[in-house]
Amino acid sequence: MAVQIAPSILSADFARLSDEAAAVADVADWLHVDVMDNHFVPNLTLGLPVVESLLKHTGLPLDCHLMITEPDRWAPGYAEAGARNVTIHAEAVQSPVRTLRAIRAAGARAGLGVNPATAVEPYEDLLSETDMLLLMTVEPGFGGQHFLDLVLPKLRRARAMVAKSGADIWLQVDGGVGEDTIERCAEAGADVFVAGSAVFGSGDPAAVVESLRGQAERATARATWRW
Ligand code: DX5
Ligand code: ZN
Repeated sequence: MAVQIAPSILSADFARLSDEAAAVADVADWLHVDVMDNHFVPNLTLGLPVVESLLKHTGLPLDCHLMITEPDRWAPGYAEAGARNVTIHAEAVQSPVRTLRAIRAAGARAGLGVNPATAVEPYEDLLSETDMLLLMTVEPGFGGQHFLDLVLPKLRRARAMVAKSGADIWLQVDGGVGEDTIERCAEAGADVFVAGSAVFGSGDPAAVVESLRGQAERATARATWRW
């Protein structure tokens, strides 16, 4: 699996979202969209109407990260709207099998996210229902936080778990990922990298995406989990 970079629009200018998306359109693999409801996390961002508008203005596939309560109720709607990936949180979902299946049935990839303090092992039996595991590397809710190294052992365990399953499941890291931390993530087993402030907080978002990709690719090439 190749390295994939997903710039997070949480750190973009919300009044100029289509321009911000265009700035990374030629170099990014995904546009990561953080949906927050002020209940699951102490912050409020955007919802389905903004996602629907964004879909009309960017060719990048949308990676919707739902940090909301009741993902069972809302997640399929994002997939139906055209999001290419929809990630729900293990801590919030009531019926993960039903909801992950509903996301897939609506034509999207199904992601399952865990906060830093949530173990991945209880979800091993759900891997067949999942296309991507998202390991939060900060407490969810805000951009620009410091990367939590304590997640790295879990990332290694998740990579081993996925390898054992034999399934092609992506491992995404989100939070504090930038030039100082992306190599650690790649070496530990991540292959999809969300970066918000590192990309949109810079003067040249596209150049940062390309530079992060290079770092991640070099780190992946020397990673022991590869084979
Ligand atoms: C945080 C969000 C992240 C956020 C990451 O809860 O899920 O996607 O945008 O921002 P940075 O890369 O600045 O830590
Ligand atoms: Zn996110």
